[in-house]
Amino acid sequence: MHQITVLEALHQARREIGDSDARMLVQHVLKVSHAHLIAHADQELNPEQARYFQLLVVRRFHGEPVAYLIGSREFYSLDFKVTPAVLIPRPETELLVDLALERIPANRPCKVLDLGTGSGAIAITIAKHRPLADIVAVDFSAAAAAVAKMNAEHLNADNVRIITSDWFHELAEQRFDLVVSNPPYIAEDDPHLTQGDLRFEPRKALTPGDNGLECIRFIVASACAHLVEGGALLLEHGYNQADVCRQLLSRADFGRVFSRPDLAGIMRVSGGVRGSFSREAVRI
Ligand SMILES: C[S@@+](CC[C@H](N)C(=O)[O-])C[C@H]1O[C@@H](n2cnc3c(N)ncnc32)[C@H](O)[C@@H]1O
Repeated sequence: MHQITVLEALHQARREIGDSDARMLVQHVLKVSHAHLIAHADQELNPEQARYFQLLVVRRFHGEPVAYLIGSREFYSLDFKVTPAVLIPRPETELLVDLALERIPANRPCKVLDLGTGSGAIAITIAKHRPLADIVAVDFSAAAAAVAKMNAEHLNADNVRIITSDWFHELAEQRFDLVVSNPPYIAEDDPHLTQGDLRFEPRKALTPGDNGLECIRFIVASACAHLVEGGALLLEHGYNQADVCRQLLSRADFGRVFSRPDLAGIMRVSGGVRGSFSREAVRI
């Protein structure tokens, strides 16, 4: 019986799905790297591999995100396992990590909290780049927390503690030097929720169910009670939410309030520092 080669499989799949999607699915089926695929385009798929590949192509054709089909997504050059219980980490979220790493000293301990950790992408990336930091990551979804724990283990991030909690609820009186969050911030009636990958992601990871600001409002209003004097809050938000985020931060008595654009030039992260605004008081 004729066995299909990598090149033939890609050629057939490209009639139904995009080039890079087809390539990632073949890599997943054969468990090989991109470089291997290029060098071995004439490798044959056995019948079981060919059937599995065809099934994945059909599922992708019907819209399922590639990350869920292959069970992983790269973020900040780290490989995160993902399931439909977690948001697929986005490239724009790397800005939040960059800004967090700028504020976390490499040479001394620092307490960091990640609210709504999902796959653990933010918390674990920070942990890998700042081994002296002590990181707590929370999510109210036990299924998401389980994925984050799996990633912490698989990426050997032993300075991250993952907790199932409704925002700050399980943290008692704990205070942190830095609080970061990429909370749900899409408005309930945003048409993007019915398009592309978003249709398959957990609704509660995407939208708080109102105009998109409920979680941001709650986190900004509650964060001071969990920050040390001079500690900072950094929030990812929607393309049109920077002004309102800065207003909320200022009203909650944060100082040094700012917004920063992502690589596409869209204001993506806003933040501020708790308490006295003198340079000496700013810990990070
Ligand atoms: C936009 S996703 C971000 C996931 C991950 N941090 C990332 O950047 O890829 C928001 C996350 O917040 C979690 N979340 C929503 N409401 C929450 C709440 N009340 N308490 C804790 N986590 C919550 C969701 O389960 C989801 O994992």
